[in-house]
Amino acid sequence: MSTIVPTTIAPEVEAAVAGFMLTQEQMTEVVDRMTKEIKMGLSKDTHSRAVIKCFVSYVQDLPTGKERGKYLALDLGGSNFRVLLVDLKSNTDIEILSKSYVIASSMLSGPGKDLFDFIANCLAEFCKEHNLQGEALPLGFTFSFPLQQQGLTKGILVTWTKGFSCEGVVGKNVVALLQEAIERRGDLKINIVAILNDTVGTLMSCAFTARNCRIGLIVGTGSNACYVEKTVNAECFEGYQTSTKPHMIINAEWGAFGDNGVLDFVRTPYDRMVDKVTPNPGKQTFEKCISGMYMGELVRLVLVDLMAKGKIFVGEKSERIQTQWNFQTSYLSEIESDLPGDFRGCNKVINQLGLVGNNVRDKVHLRYICEAVSSRSAKLCSCGLVTLINKMNINEVAVGIDGSVYRYHPRYHDLLMLHMTKLLRPGIKFELLESDDGSGKGAALIAATAVQSTTK
Ligand code: BGC
Repeated sequence: MSTIVPTTIAPEVEAAVAGFMLTQEQMTEVVDRMTKEIKMGLSKDTHSRAVIKCFVSYVQDLPTGKERGKYLALDLGGSNFRVLLVDLKSNTDIEILSKSYVIASSMLSGPGKDLFDFIANCLAEFCKEHNLQGEALPLGFTFSFPLQQQGLTKGILVTWTKGFSCEGVVGKNVVALLQEAIERRGDLKINIVAILNDTVGTLMSCAFTARNCRIGLIVGTGSNACYVEKTVNAECFEGYQTSTKPHMIINAEWGAFGDNGVLDFVRTPYDRMVDKVTPNPGKQTFEKCISGMYMGELVRLVLVDLMAKGKIFVGEKSERIQTQWNFQTSYLSEIESDLPGDFRGCNKVINQLGLVGNNVRDKVHLRYICEAVSSRSAKLCSCGLVTLINKMNINEVAVGIDGSVYRYHPRYHDLLMLHMTKLLRPGIKFELLESDDGSGKGAALIAATAVQSTTK
């Protein structure tokens, strides 16, 4: 007997998620507002009060495709920390050896010294395992938090994001903290030649093969983008008027967009509830509407609300669903991967949440809620990308993208294509390219360029 799948959505469910359904007008307004904020971030006069900081990356050259050699890379920014050995053999042959280390949750909020000692210990262990102790290889440090850079090897942490809140790091030069931890060990020869954001690594690694790549985007635990700006517009770079190089990669740090209230018109009561339970309330407003750390929690809050009103999973009790952060963002991908009429992914999630879920209508509703949250994420991300493309004023561009949401969500790529096409001026050609380990490869490419320019 085949099940008849209801296609209509109950008015109460529709009402609960109506705020996530952005209209074309709202999206155009988001682009306009973001354009203003980006200009404020770039300009010397307004930078200090701007929310989208548009940090200077000190990376002015895109890869030539001829970079070669062995480099170490560190990747800190999500729940795992990675050490990599990247061998750039040719632009089609890159060998990567890497190891992930789990960061204990206590370390995320403990003393910064412990975090950097942990990083140095992992690095030492990795070098020992691969017999690299005597080599003093150049190292690129992908550090995926807002950094006020003062050079390629100097970056002051402005604020933690994504659940990190280690003490004694904000306001400090992160490269120095790592160097001190390495020196405390005394048994490692390491040459830190660059610190970079993951978006910059992603842009560099895509540009290594795709010549027209001008934007690096991350939609993972957090969200952010970087882009290629004219050096003369990067007013916070001391050499913006005199530099012989025409371009500067700008780390937009777009996650903070809306921290001054300009996005309130697209936020829902659920966004405000999520914000309250984060370690950084009032901060990273745009990121909290978009990225993987928060999407699952948004869905959970809608569910809890509708369950309390007796509109979904009626009569069922689940402690798991009542517990904060218990609805993983990967569940959205699982549920939305089901083909029409199939509920395998959905059933698995329902089961993991400790619900029975015998009612097909509940499953249809659950999917509808997930789709509302993920579509809004993709719509806002499209607004961000369109803002950057318009700002660069170019007719053809490739965007390098990384992050678990983009990688694993079944429709994210298509949603970005759809909404960007609707928002961009006609005739602008764009391509969205999935980056393959941008944090590692990008760090190696920047390290290669840095080493070249110091040995010239
Ligand atoms: C950080 C960015 C980073 C992004 C993606 C955000 O929380 O502020 O620096 O690029 O996450 O990892």
